[in-house]
Amino acid sequence: MDVSSDAANIRDPMSRAPRYLLTSYGCQMNKLDSELVESRLTAAGYERAEGESDADVVLLNTCSVRQHAEDRVWSRLGVLRQLKREKPGLVVGVLGCMAEEHQRYIRARMPHVDLVVGPSAFGDIDEKVETLRARGSDEEPGDGVVAVGHGVSGDTIRRDVRVRPHRSQAYVNVMRGCNMPCSYCIVPATRGQEISRPIADIVEEVERLCDDGVSEVTLLGQTVNAYGRDLGRDVTLARLLRALHEIPALRRIAFITSHPNFLSAELIDALAELPRVSRYLHLPAQSGSNAVLKAMRRGYTAERYRTRVEQLRARAPDIELHSDWIVGYPGETDEDFAATVALMEEIRFAQSYVFKYSPRPGTLAADVVDDVPDAVKAERNRILNEVQERHTVARNQEFVGCVQEILVEGPSKVAGRLTGRTVHHRIVHFDSTDERLAGRYVPVRILEALGHSLLGEQLAEDHAEVGA
Ligand code: SAH
Ligand code: SF4
Ligand code: F3S
Repeated sequence: MDVSSDAANIRDPMSRAPRYLLTSYGCQMNKLDSELVESRLTAAGYERAEGESDADVVLLNTCSVRQHAEDRVWSRLGVLRQLKREKPGLVVGVLGCMAEEHQRYIRARMPHVDLVVGPSAFGDIDEKVETLRARGSDEEPGDGVVAVGHGVSGDTIRRDVRVRPHRSQAYVNVMRGCNMPCSYCIVPATRGQEISRPIADIVEEVERLCDDGVSEVTLLGQTVNAYGRDLGRDVTLARLLRALHEIPALRRIAFITSHPNFLSAELIDALAELPRVSRYLHLPAQSGSNAVLKAMRRGYTAERYRTRVEQLRARAPDIELHSDWIVGYPGETDEDFAATVALMEEIRFAQSYVFKYSPRPGTLAADVVDDVPDAVKAERNRILNEVQERHTVARNQEFVGCVQEILVEGPSKVAGRLTGRTVHHRIVHFDSTDERLAGRYVPVRILEALGHSLLGEQLAEDHAEVGA
């Protein structure tokens, strides 16, 4: 590796543009944060690297939600330690939730990490990277930049709407942080207190996205249906949805993740009345046992969850439900787990993510012994996934014979097929090689239910009878 020519690249205007490699771990919010980081770097003249070998800057946008997510990053950082020995001019950055959570450890034990930037502090990431690159490779290790803490949000920077992975779809942050007290969860520590963006700002951003070709947005918030409570009584998710519904070019509006406690009558009315709002709701139940829900401090019982779902289904029966579940929470008995299975059987979710409980240092639950053996967690995980699979397949079969409107996303993994999504967020594959359809809405008749997706045939554009 020619180190001197690497260092020369920083100052020589005739050399190639500096290159960055950015890997995202974690939730959709992290993915969107990564897009914002990319837009800053692109504006500063950076190009995307092919891999570690041609990168001048390697950034990891990290997640702390479970140990497994962190382990992947620790092991990647081990590899980067070696790379940095070979290439001292390389800038290595840890961004996101692990930067917030483990800043001291990283600074003390990982001198090859130059940049530690929490999820609220990357608004000027390009300047931070430039500062580090300009100093060259002769500085002492450990002289890097640390920017953590809450308040300075990436959203304070006007977003470059052109930088996004999909032409017709976009994520939009409506709030940051989380004020909920869930005992197991690290997110409030990494992302800080709730800060909602004003409705006018969000509408303005979505209009600019639509002007650039977007027709589907997914609004993001850890408790997205609590949106606005820090801005006064008149600011709610329902009102935001109504305001966005006025934008003519916007055909689909989705939002994640909802908390059962904030599923208000006003929001249910909006779901029932606004046809362009996507027909699914991510409403994590976490458990069906009242004892476990109480220990988790979720703030509702299984009965209250059921009641909320009944109210929703009475007004908007076409909305499908998605859930997250944690198995093996401390003290979870066989009876508790049976109650979780019962809730899942009863509600019949369209989709679920099941997680084995992972203690997070610093959370309330971490003070309680993690007493459910891993083998038991694994078995409960398997059972819950099996029940969900049965429901997913059964529901998929109900779509066979129906015509669905698909927003085409692009080629499927199978050659000769395209992939898109229904308004319920279901994946549909169909035979076509016409990649110009990407970003268009096409009618597709569903022919077959696969495990996690549907197979269909494209109909003529003017086919009118779309419906489940
Ligand atoms: N704000 C969202 C998502 C939070 S993180 C919500 O409240 O639903 C996504 C999911 O990770 C959670 O819904 C939960 O099921 C899971 N999760 C969070 N902390 C966890 C932990 N310590 N161990 C296992 N799963 C966890
Ligand atoms: Fe975590 Fe609970 Fe907040 Fe979701 S609502 S991010 S689970 S603390
Ligand atoms: Fe992970 Fe942070 Fe998202 S902990 S789930 S990246 S909010």
